[in-house]
Amino acid sequence: MYDTVRGWIREARHIAVLTGAGMSAESGVPTFRDSQSGLWARFDPQELATEAAFRAHPQRVWDWYAHRREMIARVAPNAGHVALAAFARRHPGRLTLITQNVDGLHQRAGNTDALALHGNIAEDRWLEAPSACCQPDTIEAGHPPRCPVCGNLRRPGVVWFGENLPAVALEAAEHAVSHCDLMLVIGTSGEVYPAAGLAFTAHQSGARVVIINPEPTPLDVVAEQCLRAPAAVCLPSLMA
Ligand code: OAD
Repeated sequence: MYDTVRGWIREARHIAVLTGAGMSAESGVPTFRDSQSGLWARFDPQELATEAAFRAHPQRVWDWYAHRREMIARVAPNAGHVALAAFARRHPGRLTLITQNVDGLHQRAGNTDALALHGNIAEDRWLEAPSACCQPDTIEAGHPPRCPVCGNLRRPGVVWFGENLPAVALEAAEHAVSHCDLMLVIGTSGEVYPAAGLAFTAHQSGARVVIINPEPTPLDVVAEQCLRAPAAVCLPSLMA
């Protein structure tokens, strides 16, 4: 099974890769939907990952993201991130990396052009459209920081439930999955759209889909192979 997938990787003209939280699990970043350790098993996403929640409780939401940001700054890319980055470096233009992860670990491993569909937790931006007074050099520190003149708040630079994905990244991702001949879907539960829909688009466009995930997912129906293994264990030998 592994040799077959290795052969597909060798032959493919263009490979699209979609990653989710499981990709970073072996770096020590908790996933969202694991029934024991997943963030959404312990916290209610409606209270932490929506614009309405931020407007209602800006300090609580800001502090939760600040805590995750600090935790992520302390971890490192794992062997899976490194294997994907090394492949992209050896084969310029052959791999498009699309990620739902906001942890920046693909970028730190070397995939600086990864399409970050859900933003980046290390960044923040204005809650309201900025006025002339909202300047980066005068931001007042706080939980959250704010414009000292108009009070506009800084918010985490991630995509919350109910928000649109960054249009340029999403269009580039759709283009990649419609034109690839192989798609690797790694460490995602396939529960969140539009990201999960990219696997169906690749399949409908004639690409082979391979899933790398220790658990079954709703995307398995379009997969030609499901490798039931952790990403950091199997990617180094697959991408070598
Ligand atoms: P989930 O937490 O929903 O799914 C993680 C998947 O990773 C599960 O299917 C696990 O079986 C799998 N997994 C766990 N360990 C793994 C490992 N070592 N190797 C490979 N797979 C492993 O995370 P996502 O699918 O990424 O949104 O969730 C999608 C979005 O929902 C996230 O981007 C986030 C969340 O709300 C935002 O942050 C906007």
